[in-house]
Parts: sequence; structure tokens; C-alpha cells
Amino acid sequence: MNNKEASLKHLAIIMDGNGRWALNKELPRTSGHAEGEHSLSRTIDWAISNKIKWLTVYAFSTENWLRSSDEVDYLMFFNRDILIRRRDEFNDKGVKFRFLGNLNDEKIPDENKILMKETEEITKNNSNLNLVFAFNYGSHNEIHSAIMKLHNNNLEKMLSLEEITDSFYSNFQYPDIPFPDVLLRTAGEERISNFLLYQLAYTELIFIDTLWPDVNQDILDNVLLEFKSRNRTYGKN
Ligand code: IPE
Ligand code: IPE
Ligand code: MG
Repeated sequence: MNNKEASLKHLAIIMDGNGRWALNKELPRTSGHAEGEHSLSRTIDWAISNKIKWLTVYAFSTENWLRSSDEVDYLMFFNRDILIRRRDEFNDKGVKFRFLGNLNDEKIPDENKILMKETEEITKNNSNLNLVFAFNYGSHNEIHSAIMKLHNNNLEKMLSLEEITDSFYSNFQYPDIPFPDVLLRTAGEERISNFLLYQLAYTELIFIDTLWPDVNQDILDNVLLEFKSRNRTYGKN
């Protein structure tokens, strides 16, 4: 039995391998990130044409601050620059943006914060594709924030233990986002790197060797075929 008939509603991607792509070409690591923009754009078009309604991409993790300050500065610049150059085009395509992560962090430049807020606002009525940009995102931070929110709510509302258990997930930043059907990680690493730990409970994991900047629509078609060949039983049989 397989999953042929099931539709892929939500694809989450750990876009990895930009640095290696650049090093293979004897280019600076940052040019791998720049090239990754084209893969993201191809993936957005592919998702829209395949009627995949949710796409979550890991753009910057809470651990990525540990990289060299030059690379961190470039990634902050790059996030702003993509939004400045391309958000109108994505808006025209019907893409609705959400930024998932600790966006209040003082390490994030104010300009980035403003652009992300504006982009959410500008695209909020779109419905072709929900694009969740995980930026300064880490699951440990996300779960910790949800616990803090629940704790603060509980001080006001005095919830019972049962109410706490039932409503725990509603304390996450975007509790309305469906859990991913597929997690794709590129570039050969087979780990989760602090991404969506809670939400991936029954997600199909797909790891491919292709570096993120080399991802194209044929590769994405194969990911979809792989998903359809999986048998999702959720603990039944
Ligand atoms: C992923 O590519 C992009 C980000 C983490 C921002 P990497 O920069 O991790 O590329 P590799 O893993 O070093 O090749
Ligand atoms: C995960 O990739 C983060 C993003 C893709 C944004 P990393 O390259 O940072 O993860 P590790 O270091 O290989 O676990
Ligand atoms: Mg990496």
C-alpha cells in the first residue's frame, strides 16, 4: 500500500549545501547563498504549479549566529535584499509570507524586522502559496517560548492541567500551520538541526545529496514521487 492518492499539502525544506556548492567552484561561501535564491524561486513556482499550499524553508537558524561575522552580515543583508528586490513579484504570484522564528531578537537588524513585517502585511490576503520563512528559527527556542506563554497565561487564567495539555500547541507562534507532510533536506546531511522538532512527529523525511543551489523542478518532481510511494500509517497498520 502506498500514498499515491494523498496530496502533499505542506513541504518543509532544510536548504543546505550553499557553502559546499561555492567551495566546489572555488567561490566565496556567500555566492552559494546568492545562487540559492534561484532554487528558492524555482521551488516557489513548482509548489504553485503543483498546488502545494504550504512551503516552509529554513533560511537562518538560531545556531547560524555562530558563523563568521562576515557570513552572518551577508545573510542578514541577503534576507533584506531578496525582500526588497522580489516581494512584489512574489506578491503578484499570490504568495503569502510568514516569518517564523524569534523576530524580536536584538541581533536582527531593525531594517530586516521592518521589511519582514511589511512583507507579511502586503501579502496577507494572498492564497496561492503560504510561504513560511524560518528566520532566526530554532525549535528549542520555539518550544521554550510556547512554555513561557502558557505559563504567563496560566498565571492569569488558572488553567487546569487538562486544559494545559489540550491547548499547548496553541501557544506556538503560528498554531494554524498544518504539520509538514514532507521534510526535504538537501546536501547529504541526515539530521534535523533544530528544525520543527514538534511538528515533524509524523512527517516523511527525505534526504537527498543534491546541494541546494542545484535543486531544480525535476528533483522536486522526484521528491513528490518518493512521497507518494511512502505508506503513512500513523501508528496503525
Ligand atoms: C545552508 O547552506 C544555508 C544556511 C545555513 C544559511 P550552508 O551555508 O549550511 O552550506 P554548507 O552546509 O556549508 O555547504
Ligand atoms: C541548517 O543548516 C540551517 C539552515 C539551512 C538555515 P546548517 O548547515 O546550519 O546545519 P548543520 O550545522 O549542518 O547542522
Ligand atoms: Mg550547512
